[in-house]
Amino acid sequence: MAIRFSSDFAKNITDKAIHAAVLDTVTALAGACKQISHICARGPLEQGLGVETGAANTDGDAQKALDVRSDEIITKVLETAPVAYYASEEQDDIVILDADKPLAVASDPLDGSSNIDTNVSIGTIFSIFETNDNAASSFLRPGSEQICGGFFVYGPQTTLVITAGAGTQTYVLDPDSGDFELAIADMKITPMSTEYAINASNHHHWDAPIRAYIEDCLLGATGPLGTKYNMRWVGSLVADANRILSRGGLFMYPSDDRDGYSHGRLRLLYEANPVAFVIEQAGGAATDGTRRILDVPLGTLHQRVPLVFGSKRAVQTLGNYHKKQDQL
Ligand code: F6P
Ligand code: MN
Repeated sequence: MAIRFSSDFAKNITDKAIHAAVLDTVTALAGACKQISHICARGPLEQGLGVETGAANTDGDAQKALDVRSDEIITKVLETAPVAYYASEEQDDIVILDADKPLAVASDPLDGSSNIDTNVSIGTIFSIFETNDNAASSFLRPGSEQICGGFFVYGPQTTLVITAGAGTQTYVLDPDSGDFELAIADMKITPMSTEYAINASNHHHWDAPIRAYIEDCLLGATGPLGTKYNMRWVGSLVADANRILSRGGLFMYPSDDRDGYSHGRLRLLYEANPVAFVIEQAGGAATDGTRRILDVPLGTLHQRVPLVFGSKRAVQTLGNYHKKQDQL
């Protein structure tokens, strides 16, 4: 046993066989992530986790040793789970495990790679679908069709934040029992917050609406937003998402005019969709600036998307800056 589910977890999945398959798959992922968490906890005692392998993934990011190890660990556990297809941010193509099985899993095996050697929280993100006619069509669909999604965080605590469409729950890996225990049954994101997260070094590359919004935040109490704002940027999506779930806030990774950033940096399938699912289920919102993330069609596996999420009113306020720009 790697995880103790609360009784109503996944209660929205009424098909008994699919319900059981989801629980088995999440249990398998929890087993994989316990292994990854153990490697992270040893940090520099393990050989060269943050060393670049010399290869790049499909998105052009330099792969590090821990990216590759995490992907291998996840692939291996999914072979024992009721999973037909595995799509990984670290692999060009879908891995076919056993086409007769009922589920398809997408994952960013190691999120926050730039923080690997810094003893800062990193994690694993995953998204689960029922299979469709074939491998590609099992993934090329909007995030609203996910049946389960979430992420593990390897930080001061190893946690699992998860939803299967019946609220968002947080489990904590108890180092004594070795099991993930339910810690927060029904997470709720405060609707308004004055904390935002953005890589501000890209300021001069942003589009006008993002620039105008951040400039208004910086004006503080005397500006049009009428209040002092605070900024936090961990640089690991999972850690920024976890903080926002805990105390509210607004995350932004917008598109910008750097080469390769015309659709932002984050991937719709592996990162934005599962994060959007847990954020919405906790009462927050997730958009690409204006459009709901979970409604964005997926054309290619590694497609990027501008990502904005967090406290509902803060997401709406930023959306209004985009609308104002459209009216000019
Ligand atoms: O996986 C991509 C990622 O590492 C996220 O975890 C994080 O939010 C983002 O990239 C950081 O990007 P940047 O280095 O541009 O701030
Ligand atoms: Mn990532």
